[in-house]
Amino acid sequence: MNALLTLSIPLLFSSLAWSGYLEHDQDVLIPDGWTRAGRVNPSEELELTFALKQRNTDLLEETLRLVSDPDSAQYGKYLTLEEVSSLVRPTELTQKVVHHWLQSNGITNCLTVRTQDFLQCTMTAEVAETLLPGSKFHRYIRDGHSLVRSSAPYSVHDDVHQHLDFVGGLHRLPPKGQDLLKTSSNRKQKRPKAGLHLGVTPSVLRARYNLTATDVGTAQNNSQAVAQFLEQYYSDADLAEFMGMYGRSFKHLSQVSRVVGTQGAGKAGIEASLDVEYIMSTGANISTWVFTNQGRHESQEPFLQWMVLLSNMSDLPWVHTISYGDDEDSLSTAYMMRINTEFMKAGVRGISLLFASGDSGAGCKHLGKGQNSFRPSFPASSPYVTTVGGTSFKNPFKVTYEITDYISGGGFSNVFKMPDYQASAVDRYLKNVAATLPPQSYFNTSGRAYPDMAALSDNYWVVMNRVPVPWVSGTSASTPVVGGMLSLINDQRLLKGLPALGFLNPRLYKLKGQALFDVTEGCHLSCLDEQVQGKGFCAAPSWDPVTGWGTPNYPALLAALLAE
Ligand SMILES: *[C@@H]1O[C@H](CO)[C@@H](O)[C@H](O)[C@H]1NC(C)=O
Ligand SMILES: *[C@@H]1O[C@H](CO)[C@@H](O)[C@H](O)[C@H]1NC(C)=O
Ligand SMILES: *[C@@H]1O[C@H](CO)[C@@H](O)[C@H](O)[C@H]1NC(C)=O
Ligand SMILES: *[C@@H]1O[C@H](CO)[C@@H](O)[C@H](O)[C@H]1NC(C)=O
Ligand SMILES: *[C@@H]1O[C@H](CO)[C@@H](O)[C@H](O)[C@H]1NC(C)=O
Repeated sequence: MNALLTLSIPLLFSSLAWSGYLEHDQDVLIPDGWTRAGRVNPSEELELTFALKQRNTDLLEETLRLVSDPDSAQYGKYLTLEEVSSLVRPTELTQKVVHHWLQSNGITNCLTVRTQDFLQCTMTAEVAETLLPGSKFHRYIRDGHSLVRSSAPYSVHDDVHQHLDFVGGLHRLPPKGQDLLKTSSNRKQKRPKAGLHLGVTPSVLRARYNLTATDVGTAQNNSQAVAQFLEQYYSDADLAEFMGMYGRSFKHLSQVSRVVGTQGAGKAGIEASLDVEYIMSTGANISTWVFTNQGRHESQEPFLQWMVLLSNMSDLPWVHTISYGDDEDSLSTAYMMRINTEFMKAGVRGISLLFASGDSGAGCKHLGKGQNSFRPSFPASSPYVTTVGGTSFKNPFKVTYEITDYISGGGFSNVFKMPDYQASAVDRYLKNVAATLPPQSYFNTSGRAYPDMAALSDNYWVVMNRVPVPWVSGTSASTPVVGGMLSLINDQRLLKGLPALGFLNPRLYKLKGQALFDVTEGCHLSCLDEQVQGKGFCAAPSWDPVTGWGTPNYPALLAALLAE
């Protein structure tokens, strides 16, 4: 036996050894809308991302709990990127084995990050297919955009299997923009007669959330960011025009401070315009960064690229809002777990990540034979981000109280366990509404429940390509609105010498709804079947899986979050 064991060392990476899948549950079906345009040429260059196994992820999770819990002595004692790196950096063995594996396949062109847990390597398609048995690279096209992905699952050599979480650049495709943003032509909502409608503008938001003209940023080094992953660009001219039209009542900036990545030359996109125009309207006079398709290559996953970038930048804005989401069931568990760890890495640095809860209510997955279940969305379902749902005005033409926007994404994760910070809030909801809950077979009460809070998501005005566009709706509107307000609170905290809010949820749930406008009316949509008839969960007093704790009453929230 011993002799055999010693023999196995020279055999390292011999092609005879076993290989295994890293992402056995990853969806490899190409979604509708993409057409296959043939195999890629074997000599074509690909760029793949290797996620190396990290150390101390339990300790990372515990550290995040301590630095985000206002009752802990460690509250706000954030780590630098260097400290995160010393905590999670892969072991020497992991680094050696992975490097050796790549090198023995002739792959030498790799970049690493400050935390050394990602490698981005360039190689030909032919080399990639040898390195990752099973993979078959094809080109896919949608709306003139072309991508390279593998049509079949990949495996890795047994000797590296335990040293990797996943390999990026093989399967996941960018979701469609309109999955995140619906203009009202898609909505069931009745339109008012001409001339009567109001529509959400910065002054409407500032009135509803009680922001005064002096509630603008003043701290020197505060900043906020939006991240874009679709082929979407904002335009400086649109932003300037938007602020000229809607920003007269408060001091604001009319220019983005920094663009990270490359903005294409194409037309401005609705999503990008919306995010930038509104984070800069609530987070007024705060320096704003835009992260955009960074050095995009056909074989890269844009969202993953952004995550990798965060691990390579020591100086980052405190608040990031992101309108990206995929069905949980289309992603591998290994991928979601690792991305969740990346969220923890951001959280321990004091960075707040806000994700849109999605625009399909509880969602719907067809299990066959008339059987359905709700369909949670990721990253909205991650326990380590703050997820933002959507509301409408009770009277759509006036600044009234808010009710559920029926598209507001919400529900329970099938992947992530319910975190402690929300257990009692969710339990109370389930008990209070027990009689009217959808059937138990539709959702999983042991999972992380979302959203955490909400804001208006209906009938926004956006300036795009120089034209004001009405009726823009979706949780991608509410997310930057909340992000801007958190940035204002950070601003006041920084002026007082306090640390930034960081990962907000533990503190948010301890407020038990204080300082938020509770949303208690309306239900969101779900499966159109006999059992639930399109109805998902319903809003209720205190926390609910449609609007979370509710929407911000800015002065009250500022007061509550300005204490140590
Ligand atoms: C990370 O940043 C360093 C410079 O700070 C750079 O050399 C390296 O290529 C970057 N890594 C990636 C993956 O871009
Ligand atoms: C904030 O807004 C609400 C509703 O519009 C209002 O009742 C309240 O008096 C306002 N002011 C504060 C400080 O909460
Ligand atoms: C806007 O922010 C800058 C710092 O970035 C600050 O010096 C200035 O006073 C702020 N403007 C107002 C009106 O508060
Ligand atoms: C903080 O200020 C410095 C100096 O002006 C600047 O280089 C840096 O980008 C700022 N950081 C953030 C996160 O805004
Ligand atoms: C329910 O969620 C838990 C995680 O909280 C998970 O382990 C379990 O597999 C989920 N059940 C289903 C049916 O997806």
